[in-house]
Amino acid sequence: MTGRLQGRVAMITGAGSGIGRASAELFAAEGAAVAVVDLRADAAQETADKITASGGRALALAADVTSAQQVEAAVGQAVAEFGSLDLLYNNAGIDSRGSVAEATEEDWDRCFAVNVKGTFLCSKAVVPHLRDAGGGAIVNQGSVAGLVAVPNFAAYCAAKGAVASLTRSMAVDLAPQRIRVNAICPGTVFTPLMEPMLRARGGGDLEAGLAKTLVKYPIGRLGTPEEIARVALFLSSDEASFMTGSIVAADGGMTAQ
Ligand SMILES: NC(=O)c1ccc[n+]([C@@H]2O[C@H](COP(=O)([O-])OP(=O)(O)OC[C@H]3O[C@@H](n4cnc5c(N)ncnc54)[C@H](O)[C@@H]3O)[C@@H](O)[C@H]2O)c1
Repeated sequence: MTGRLQGRVAMITGAGSGIGRASAELFAAEGAAVAVVDLRADAAQETADKITASGGRALALAADVTSAQQVEAAVGQAVAEFGSLDLLYNNAGIDSRGSVAEATEEDWDRCFAVNVKGTFLCSKAVVPHLRDAGGGAIVNQGSVAGLVAVPNFAAYCAAKGAVASLTRSMAVDLAPQRIRVNAICPGTVFTPLMEPMLRARGGGDLEAGLAKTLVKYPIGRLGTPEEIARVALFLSSDEASFMTGSIVAADGGMTAQ
């Protein structure tokens, strides 16, 4: 199926890598013009170049989602380039290792700044444009870590739990403005974010870390960025028109047991 986002303009944060990049490419292939936002300008440009090389429309924007000023500038540039905004995927995120006893105050603050404040700031900047467009959809990136405890990821679990709560709150507040808000909670997906975690879990051995992780996955494998991108596409499209405030696990059964 193609053209599911024909005529739409999407902003995707953290789109220079992993799930964000796969989503930017998929949204563009489905007809959306995509504002590719990332902290790393080169990574954002690489994603945008891949999209334009395939005949899609994309604009690379360097911004730190924890900075209101940078977020507003990026949103302004996207609207100047594409004329409007219909969709936002708050995907940018970082993990943070350690139990409460081990994590530092800095770890906690940075984890909440990117995962929670970033989602707040980007949504705040984009909502007036979605309203102007007559409505739209926002997808927030949660995690299974926001649904169940993942050992030794205290700040990350708390931050992704906050993203789920914020999603419900936004869904209720923005429904009268025809803006749907949902969250995806992916299980482990093999991306640059996850590789160090898997290695650490295996005592430095990636394969051992992978084996330990797979025990928790009834489906017997990790997810792919493209599988999460397809969930984001569905939630962003009109096919999900009766869905708002939903916290959707895409986790190979990890939280089902
Ligand atoms: N990979 C997984 O297993 C997994 C599982 C559950 C949830 N998630 C969530 O999915 C999202 C994407 O994860 P990924 O695995 O694709 O990660 P990734 O590290 O491959 O990509 C994340 C991107 O976000 C960018 N980024 C980081 N901080 C930023 C900031 N302050 N402002 C703007 N951009 C910033 C990075 O530069 C990077 O390009 C994150 O929110 C993550 O918590 C990932």
